[in-house]
Amino acid sequence: MQICRSISDCRATLATFRANGARIGMVPTMGYLHEGHLSLVDIARAQADRVIVSIFVNPSQFGEAADLDAYPRNETRDLALLKAAGVDVVFMPDVATMYPEGDETIVETTRLANMLHGEVRPGHFRGVSTVVTRLFNIAQPDVAVFGEKDYQQLQVIKRMVSDLHIPVDIIGGPTVREPDGLAMSSRNVRLSKDDRADASVLSRALNAAQAEALAGATVESLQKLISDMIADVPSARLTGLDIVAAETLNPLTGPLTGPTAIMISAAFGDVLLIDQKVVSP
Ligand code: PAJ
Repeated sequence: MQICRSISDCRATLATFRANGARIGMVPTMGYLHEGHLSLVDIARAQADRVIVSIFVNPSQFGEAADLDAYPRNETRDLALLKAAGVDVVFMPDVATMYPEGDETIVETTRLANMLHGEVRPGHFRGVSTVVTRLFNIAQPDVAVFGEKDYQQLQVIKRMVSDLHIPVDIIGGPTVREPDGLAMSSRNVRLSKDDRADASVLSRALNAAQAEALAGATVESLQKLISDMIADVPSARLTGLDIVAAETLNPLTGPLTGPTAIMISAAFGDVLLIDQKVVSP
């Protein structure tokens, strides 16, 4: 497994693969890897001959410096996991490499970035689309895999790649969960023991909503069901609940008529968690 920290090194390594006709798959991450990330690596391996994983804690997608500083990191463990997963290249740039001095160019999906989770976290999706564009320009993958867990992020990336004519196929990977249903996240380690136990309410609420959706529930009744379930858990503070059209993320009302994304964000202490489910009536 090749570890590249510079753009030139990364490009040279991938060029040798490409010269041999290899199709390149990419999985962008911020490290502190878990089974969710590794499931995306498996998808990339099935879709491509060579797999590159990037590890870069991207400052431009964090609102507060404290959140960025608190982001967990463990390079040694990450590299061991990626090696065991059969990854070919790990790209680990530093901030000055990704954002060279004098840098001023941003990429923004103007509608998708500023709705829903983007309203709670201004600038977040602009940071994501800016860094992912740069990563795509560095690695030029044929296919890239993103988790459905970060559902709005996945839609932002799909829109951006389509709008900017970036020649990469975007694939969504299903959410990998802990045994109690909590979506795996690098942030979960920051939860206190009690909050960790309480956090399973997010997936329980989504499962309950899915059952109701199949039984003919309306958007309004699902909203009430989910907010009541979360209100029953005092440690949880609901920060966002959106029931929207699965592709456009446009708001819906009344009976569900097609694929519908239910997106929840909730804070436990100072840890913000998100989860989602797409349901079809
Ligand atoms: P990060 O949070 O490290 O996530 C990297 C990828 O793993 C994302 O595509 C995310 O959706 C996916 N992922 C996270 N938890 C998952 C789970 N439980 N099951 C399946 N996939 C999961 O998302 C980012 O980093 C950044 O925003 C990034 C795209 C790298 C840009 O900086």
